[in-house]
Amino acid sequence: MKRIDLIAGARPNFMKIAPIIDALKAAEKRGGALRYRLIHTGQHYDRAMSGSFFEELGIPDPDINLEVGSGTQAEQTAAIMVAYEKVLLKEKSDLCLVVGDVTSTMACSIAARKLGVPVAHVEGGIRSGDWTMPEEINRVVTDSITNWFFTTSETANDSLRRAGVTDDRICFVGNTMIDTLLKQLPRLRQPTCWESLALETGKYFVVTLHRPANVDGEHQLLQLLDAIAEGTCGLPVVFPVHPRTAKNLRDLDSKTPQLNYIDPLGYLEFNYLVRHAKGVITDSGGITEETTVLGVPCLTLRDNTERPETITIGTNKLIGTDPSKLPPALVRLMAGQWKKARFPPSGTARRQRGSSSIWSESWKDNEQEPSTPKTESAIGNMPGRMKRENLRPCHYDFCES
Ligand code: UD1
Repeated sequence: MKRIDLIAGARPNFMKIAPIIDALKAAEKRGGALRYRLIHTGQHYDRAMSGSFFEELGIPDPDINLEVGSGTQAEQTAAIMVAYEKVLLKEKSDLCLVVGDVTSTMACSIAARKLGVPVAHVEGGIRSGDWTMPEEINRVVTDSITNWFFTTSETANDSLRRAGVTDDRICFVGNTMIDTLLKQLPRLRQPTCWESLALETGKYFVVTLHRPANVDGEHQLLQLLDAIAEGTCGLPVVFPVHPRTAKNLRDLDSKTPQLNYIDPLGYLEFNYLVRHAKGVITDSGGITEETTVLGVPCLTLRDNTERPETITIGTNKLIGTDPSKLPPALVRLMAGQWKKARFPPSGTARRQRGSSSIWSESWKDNEQEPSTPKTESAIGNMPGRMKRENLRPCHYDFCES
């Protein structure tokens, strides 16, 4: 019997961890010897940012909640490391599995490796090259001490190879966040604001903003809101406001009546809104992948991305953080001049087995080498990018006794 710690801390972690838990549970039912302990760091703690995701995605209650709460980058990192180290000192696991690029990802990886617990990183290897983003530092630090990489793109594989990671430590598995999206598509549900704002399919925009570069400076945030209002030509704009942004919006004198600020939405309601929107304006990374899979135009208010496939063959365009660039881009979108995603649309994507299932099956097979995945991943299955021969079998050392 071996045990994995699954780490989840902030909103974008929960949809990535859900399919991994499903696969581990299924493997356990089949008699597999792998067990997990779900550890919530408490980086996000509100019902809107955390609890509702657990309920909607059927994620079991965490076995342990570190309850670290808010703080500066250093405070959060330190609090998570101290709390997780205590957990490990009491009862060590055989593997620490982290997902994504949030503070919890990096902090738990460091605490684990320092106690000799190997680390697996789901979504390892992606890079924006933007050192002003805390997430980029989290990615680079985490990957520098990761033992096994479960990757979402060939670009990620290349960046790992360039950093000297050998192929036997990289397993190109696709995107567990997209596993969740495809699984939940039939359950997406209309939020209450649909009626109260009289929304109609294809006739409104969705906005999300939370990056410090966009929301922490009053001037930048005001200019962005004005640009959104100008460019969306009177169509309703639904803006589920992240807590970081909410704090800054409160002090702002913004006169943009068609922007409808609402509380953060749960997963099923948010993705319903995205799926039926004319377009999405965002500074999130994960949403650019979801809009690509849903075939919805996405305008990203950042100068770079760690997910280049969403641009090269997806629906995403980097607009940058200069607010004046947004209205001209929206003019092109309104004129129907937006690119289409060049890979199977949602519903026909052939993704059936993501990293979680490959991984748990490899555990079940235990000493045997895991087989090559039988189907391709949705976001990984982009023409000219993912070739079957690139799906190398992985060697899961941690599975061996
Ligand atoms: C974090 C992640 C970011 C991710 C985002 C999604 C890092 C470095 N950043 O940024 O990658 O895209 O989450 O949401 O890990 N707050 C609440 N309630 C909560 C959680 C936070 O009110 O449940 C408040 C905090 O007090 C803080 C602010 O929101 O003032 C920001 O939260 P924080 O976790 O520091 O970073 P995010 O900006 O959310």
